[in-house]
Amino acid sequence: MTSPLFRTKNVEQSLLDTEEPEHALKKSLSALDLTVFGVGVIIGTGIFVLTGTVAKNNAGPAVALAFLVAGVVCALAALCYAEFASTVPVAGSAYTFSYASLGELPAWIIGWDLVLEFALGTAVVAVGWSGYIHSLLDNAGWRLPAALGTRDGAEGFGFDVLAAALVLVLTGILVLGMKLSARVTSIVVAIKVTVVLVVIIAGAFFITADNYVPFVPPAQPVPAGDNLAAPLIQLMFGWAPANFGVMGIFTAASVVFFAFIGFDIVATAAEETRNPQRDMPRGILGSLFICTVLYVAVSLVVTGMQKYTQLSVDAPLADAFKATGHPWFAGFISFGAAVGLTVVCMILLLGQTRVFFAMSRDGLLPRFFSRVHPRFKTPHRPTILLGVVIAVLAGFTPLSELAALVNIGTLFAFVVVAISVIILRRTRPDLHRAFRAPLVPFLPILSIAASLWLMLNLPAETWLRFAVWMALGFVVYFLYGRNHSRLSEARKADVRTP
Ligand code: ALA
Repeated sequence: MTSPLFRTKNVEQSLLDTEEPEHALKKSLSALDLTVFGVGVIIGTGIFVLTGTVAKNNAGPAVALAFLVAGVVCALAALCYAEFASTVPVAGSAYTFSYASLGELPAWIIGWDLVLEFALGTAVVAVGWSGYIHSLLDNAGWRLPAALGTRDGAEGFGFDVLAAALVLVLTGILVLGMKLSARVTSIVVAIKVTVVLVVIIAGAFFITADNYVPFVPPAQPVPAGDNLAAPLIQLMFGWAPANFGVMGIFTAASVVFFAFIGFDIVATAAEETRNPQRDMPRGILGSLFICTVLYVAVSLVVTGMQKYTQLSVDAPLADAFKATGHPWFAGFISFGAAVGLTVVCMILLLGQTRVFFAMSRDGLLPRFFSRVHPRFKTPHRPTILLGVVIAVLAGFTPLSELAALVNIGTLFAFVVVAISVIILRRTRPDLHRAFRAPLVPFLPILSIAASLWLMLNLPAETWLRFAVWMALGFVVYFLYGRNHSRLSEARKADVRTP
């Protein structure tokens, strides 16, 4: 392709960029760090909050199957991610990979898309965290005014001050340096995994077999209403909108997909990994596998403890223990969830700033943002800018609809990565690939189909919002990035040189 819109960044150039001292990040992470990092961001609002919502509204006890479906979709994408991350180990994740394979405009599109995924994802998790803190404060008999609480279902003007404060504190920690963050991460991940294991092991003793009947509740038509809230696939084929049944499992899968977001962020830390060729695939696949097993187990236990129709939508794991008469467990789980969500929020914020950093280093966003801090060696400028924007967003926005928007953005990124695997195998067969995805091109094609299927199960209004964000991205690219990118400047310099 000769059009400048499809000019590709040479893979060797991407690797060289990371050696420029002024723009280099520290290489300090191992495979274990990456796995901890992955589990740290993957387990969060998805399992702690969404399990109850989708069991109650879409799938019943079959929510465990929904987690399995979403896990398989992610595993397919993870194999593609692992190949790319081990071939192009530089900051920026899917953005960098597509710059090396598809070209500048597709790379811009994916980078812009990832900014949406991470920024809104951070806000969603911060709001979820604030909800758990409020519930803990309630236990202790303290109550903040409603106007300072979460905006979900809240009336009138308000600002979720705890969610915003969390984002700002984490921004400060990230500016101070990756190593500090990784250390904090491992302690918090240990607490979070302990809580999840307690839910599974202690909860198993309180399961009542009757609660599993019916395991897949029969499909129920939903009253005619707002068409845009129905899954796009139902509108496309003119199906009557329904919950539960087999299609309910897929609707649930497209929502609980949020619970898996994060393994792709492991790929964004490639540049900070000591031996990316070996450690990236281990980190990505390892953390994904651990989480899938835990999710299926947790959802089986929780729907076995309490009838799905009675599950709470705010704190389903803790409330299932309250319902079986074990409030002490409930308090412990709420505490662990709040601690765990802190680190999810931090890593999403980290992934976000790294994508922004890589886009700025390539000149698609102002270069001002890619100068690392002389002492802390962190991209402090995008970290602070985005931290403040996300804090405001988290303060003012309810999380429910944002989560769907995060999901569509992430699934879209999966599609682009899978396409990139196929293209790069053809255009650069010579590149060393420490990890090769099996069965190319069949596996990436399957991954594309699976991701598109989940996207189609998201509401039509989510598709509309996503289209608006992407259209805005095109405007920014054609007004700024197209003329300022380093590839464009290199081309201009070549033309000037006789
Ligand atoms: N997977 C993360 C969560 O569930 C984003 O919160």
